[in-house]
This record gives sequence, structure tokens and C-alpha cells, in this order.
Amino acid sequence: MNNHSISMASGQTRREFIATTALASAGLMTGTSLAPGAPAASASSGRKRRYAIVGVGSRSQMYRDAILKTYAPYAELVGFCDLNQGRLNLAREHARRVASADVPVFLARDFDRMVRDTRPDVVIVTTKDAAHSDYIVRAMQLGCDVMTEKPLTTDEKKCRAILEAQRRTGRRCTVTFNYRYSPPRTQVKDLLMSGIIGEVLSVDFHWLLDTHHGADYFRRWHSHKANSGGLMVHKATHHFDLVNWWLSAVPVSVMATGKREFYTPKMARRLGLQSHHERCLTCPEKAQCTFHLDLSRSGSLKELYLDQEQYDGYYRDRCVFRPDIDIEDTMNVLVRYNTGVTLAYSLNAFNAWEGYRIAFNGTQGRIEHTMEENVYINGDGSVPGALKKEGTTIRIYPFRAPAYQVPIWEAKGGHGGGDALLLDDLFLPEKPADKYLRAADQRAGAYSILTGIAANKSMVTGKAVEIAELVPRLALPDYPPMPSADSPVAMPPRA
Ligand SMILES: NC(=O)c1ccc[n+]([C@@H]2O[C@H](COP(=O)([O-])OP(=O)(O)OC[C@H]3O[C@@H](n4cnc5c(N)ncnc54)[C@H](O)[C@@H]3O)[C@@H](O)[C@H]2O)c1
Repeated sequence: MNNHSISMASGQTRREFIATTALASAGLMTGTSLAPGAPAASASSGRKRRYAIVGVGSRSQMYRDAILKTYAPYAELVGFCDLNQGRLNLAREHARRVASADVPVFLARDFDRMVRDTRPDVVIVTTKDAAHSDYIVRAMQLGCDVMTEKPLTTDEKKCRAILEAQRRTGRRCTVTFNYRYSPPRTQVKDLLMSGIIGEVLSVDFHWLLDTHHGADYFRRWHSHKANSGGLMVHKATHHFDLVNWWLSAVPVSVMATGKREFYTPKMARRLGLQSHHERCLTCPEKAQCTFHLDLSRSGSLKELYLDQEQYDGYYRDRCVFRPDIDIEDTMNVLVRYNTGVTLAYSLNAFNAWEGYRIAFNGTQGRIEHTMEENVYINGDGSVPGALKKEGTTIRIYPFRAPAYQVPIWEAKGGHGGGDALLLDDLFLPEKPADKYLRAADQRAGAYSILTGIAANKSMVTGKAVEIAELVPRLALPDYPPMPSADSPVAMPPRA
């Protein structure tokens, strides 16, 4: 890819883009897509905001408990919806137990009836990824605002349908990017905004999933691209959103390669097993396989999945070496941004540790940031993605001067400390202005998935894919202003 022939998204010049983001961050731009939410539910009205949740699996529990407990003075849970009657029953019993709340439940086919009968202000979407768009579009058509888990959706067609429905209805569509709220990641944004390394020109970003959490994506619905978009969309939506937001920039062009070489039938044999098998529960080689997952040993996994299989045949413990898996475990991507920045990114799903390393190369120096995460698998009852303090660093390298480490902003809880801060932003009726503009809507949600969708296509064709070919004329998200591309740069000191 050529760094010198940069076509700007929406036909903007680089100077105009920086000016636009500055206006947006000051809240002065009109004609962007944020529409008013349900009118009556606010701190001043005293009315609680009404929420319904569709998809009551593992991730929904964070939102469910936030509404039932932490934010109960401002929020009310009015409905649960899912394909699986067993998980619906669990959610209803849980609400009774922890909050004495009688929350009605609805099967997926009755989603419209749920909205009509229970009149939510907001529908929270936490289904599997490929089903997000159906509910986002329908909820907005029925007059609700939406909060959706990442990824916004899994392909460009569904993405265009969401953008179109949002434009037609004017409803608010929030994409809950918890990673932005993780204090060390916000700190990186703060440093980049401060201009400490000048203007960023290129980024090297490597994300590692270990053989616990990484392997887990190969056990269930994520292991098929039709459900998840593969790890390029399902997982990397977080990472590409972080880069877009860190840089206040959007992707223009993407090239990628990808392969699966670890989670394969051949690797099962190389690891000394006779063969791959269907699932862990019935595996004849469970004693020899250290990838074996015993659902009955974790109360939460047993209750949520094993005990509910009878309703829909959703097996949470399928063999990670199955031949029908069609997602990659090794991915390399090159991205060119509208500001001229270039990104080299990799994602590896069978690593020795979990976390990432990123380096920003600027006109006045370099920032290196590493974050190491604790071992976990989704829904096993442990804190997901909690950072290891000793493995989390931010180091500044000025030109021709000694490098130094900065103290890390404290982060506690799920996903690098991001989950709790995200929830405040979602559910508190009044919150202070956020100079980092961490709240994200459908525009940021779309740009975060389009890099991965383009990467999936590039893996097949071997060619660069232009983002504008997937979704034309996508408006720029609201990002804070960054150091100018035209301001003077200090001459580095003599060595
Ligand atoms: N932001 C984060 O850090 C984070 C972490 C985990 C999961 N997630 C996201 O949360 C969502 C849910 O993930 P999960 O781990 O809870 O998965 P899960 O499999 O535990 O739960 C998904 C639920 O959706 C239901 N469902 C599936 N298809 C449906 C449909 N068409 N209609 C209605 N219900 C349907 C399933 O029955 C299940 O109850 C995913 O989009 C995932 O990407 C985000």
C-alpha cells in the first residue's frame, strides 16, 4: 500500500478532517446521526428508563445485573427475549431472586409482541453476532433506541441495513465499546491527544489470545464465519475500534492474509490424540486432551449451557480440532487510514500469553504500550479480561533522549477495567462531559467492523479492499481532535 497516495473518506482533506473532528467533539456539528432518545425518561422527569434484553447468554448478565441492581434507581428491566426457553427461565428466576422483579420472557419469534406489550425505551442486543442486525433494525423500526454489543454486525450488507434503518428512524444506536473505557487505554488516548509524540504516522499492533481464551472461540458459534464474521470481525472489532478512536481516524484500504494451522484435525493428531471428536462431553480421549472443557465443573457454564442444550442443541464444548471450523487462528492485516496513518496488525489465537503490544510512531517520538490479561474463558465465573498489573506498561521514547515509563491509570474489573465505567456511561441519567468521546454510535460501530470485513475479503482475493466499496459515504464518527498534521515539529536535539 502506498503511503503517498491517500484518498480521504468523504472526500475530505486531512486538514478538513481534523477540523471536523474538533467541531464534532465540541458538539457544534449538526446533521450527524444522534437522535433524541425516549423523551420522558431522564433524571429530571423521575421516570425510570425501560430496557428489554434480547439474547440472554453470558454477556447479557452484565447488563441485566446493572439494571436490576446498580442502576435500579434510574432503570427498569421490562422484558427478556431469546431463542432458548431454558435460558429465558433462568433469567426470569434470577431477576426474581436478586431484585424481586417479575420480568416477562418472550421467545425470539415474539420479539415484536415483547416490544408492543412492554414498551421498552431501549432494546439491549446481546445475541450471537450475526443476529444483531435483525434486532437492531426491528427495534428502531418499532420506535426504540438500541444498545448493542460489539460487533455491530458481521457483513457489509447487514451493516448497510442498520445504517439505513437508523437514518430513516432517527433512533439512537449505541455500540458498547467497553475497551475504550479501560483506564490504561483511555490514558493512551490522553497521551496521543496531548501531542507528547507529535503526530502519529504509523502503528504496529499485535493482539495475542492464549490457548484458554483463544481456544474457546473454536468451541461454539464463533467458529463459523456465518455466525461471527470470524475473529477478524468478532474479536478484532474491539482492536480496530481502539485504533480508529486512538488516532481519531477511519480506515480507507485493507490488505490481509489469514490461515488456520493450530485448531485443526491434523494438530489433534500431532498432539498425540487419535483424532478430533464431536464434543468434550462425549470425547473418548478427554483424559489425554488438555483442551478438554468440562461444562459440569463450572456452575455458571453448566447452568447456562449444559442444562439448556435440550431446547436448541447449542453445544458449548465442541472439539476445537473439528474439520468444520472455518475461521482463522493466524491473521495479518495492513490498513491505510484517511489521515495517512498506516497500521500493521496481527491476531494470533494460540499464544503463550493473553494481551497485546502496540507502538505508535510519531513525529516527535514513540509510545509503546503492553497489556497482559488474566487467564479465563467466557462465562466461567471469573472476571473476563482483567489486566495483570505487572504486565501492563506505557513507555515513552522521545527522539534522542532517555525513554521513561509513566504510571498506569488504575483499572479494576472486567475487560481492563472498562466494563464498570462503560455501564456508568450507559445507565447514569446525567454524566460529565467526556473529553475522550468514548460513547460510540453506529458510525464508529460500522468503521470498527469494516476493517475486518474487508480483511476477510482480502484473504480470499489477495487484493486490497477499499472500505468505501463496502459502505459508500459512511459519515465520520465523533472523535476528539488530535495534534495537527501541519503544525511545526521540534528539531530533535543533537545526539
Ligand atoms: N464486549 C465484550 O467484551 C463482549 C464479551 C463477550 C461477548 N460479547 C458479545 O456479546 C454477545 C453475546 O455473547 P455471549 O458470549 O453472551 O454468547 P452466548 O452464546 O452466551 O449468548 C448468546 C445468546 O443469544 C441467544 N441467541 C442466539 N441467536 C439468537 C436469535 N436469533 N434470537 C434471539 N436470541 C438468540 C442464544 O440462545 C444465547 O442465549 C455477542 O455479540 C458477543 O460478541 C461482548
